[in-house]
Amino acid sequence: MDLSKRIDKAMMSAIAQAQGAREATGSVPGRLAAALNYAVTPGGARIRPTICLSVARACGDDRPALSDRAATALELIHCASLVHDDLPAFDNADFRRGKPTVHLAYSEPLAVLTGDSLIIAAFDVLAGAEDADALRALRLTRLLAHHTGMPNGICAGQGWESEANVDLGAYHRSKTAALFVAATQMGAQAAGHEPEAWEELGARLGEAFQVADDLRDALYDEAALGKPAGQDALNQRPSAVEAYGVQGAIKHLQDILSGAIASIPSCPGEGQLAQLVRLYAERMTPVAPVRV
Ligand code: IPE
Ligand code: IPE
Ligand code: MG
Ligand code: MG
Repeated sequence: MDLSKRIDKAMMSAIAQAQGAREATGSVPGRLAAALNYAVTPGGARIRPTICLSVARACGDDRPALSDRAATALELIHCASLVHDDLPAFDNADFRRGKPTVHLAYSEPLAVLTGDSLIIAAFDVLAGAEDADALRALRLTRLLAHHTGMPNGICAGQGWESEANVDLGAYHRSKTAALFVAATQMGAQAAGHEPEAWEELGARLGEAFQVADDLRDALYDEAALGKPAGQDALNQRPSAVEAYGVQGAIKHLQDILSGAIASIPSCPGEGQLAQLVRLYAERMTPVAPVRV
């Protein structure tokens, strides 16, 4: 099965579980159940689970069901972070993945609960792997927690937006790169490899991804992005474009990516993974802007 089919199948299964589709008795709040599905489908690029499964495959993928759970947990957390990020209390965005954001489609209380439910579903997906390999499942849970909350994860990243003086590197590392580090490390861990060696690749891909996102935010329009453009300037967010200018940010992006391939640890599928990293590097580098 190709990676995107594996991801879609595992995501749908996790959402069905969270909607109570597998419970024999009891009814569930229907609008919240619908909002869970709305928040994860159609998906975006699914880059984090794709990286996770690609690393697992490069490491031999000896427990594919466990790798699928790791990839799904990551994507559920990512989708939750977007639902919360779009709320009026954060970026107050009205468009995401080409459609109205969850709080506009369903209400603010339901968007808060959707994000909460997706985060909890992510940990439930990992806990459900105890029969397959309890030790790996536990280590995956720890990795996901580490890269999601405080002090190193998405919560820390979003927390920087409430500080008077922002450390741009720390902000990007925890807001975005943390989940990419989780993706490479969890892919390796799911396949029984030690995660530490996979940190640098995840960190480089994640930091590059956020610099590319800052560039796209500054250079592209809403139609091209499927979400509002110019948000960093509007919300006075620290960004790579604000710190380095457009050309400086592109140079910074290229510097980060130039070390990515060399940082791939030695593993059976190293060559194939290097090809994927090359492809992502090409895709991340912005092409001619439609809005200046
Ligand atoms: C958007 O992430 C949020 C950032 C960290 C910049 P993606 O661009 O991966 O969002 P989707 O999942 O493809 O919509
Ligand atoms: C979102 O960052 C990263 C999260 C942790 C949710 P941004 O606010 O910069 O991303 P977009 O532009 O809304 O996707
Ligand atoms: Mg934000
Ligand atoms: Mg945002």
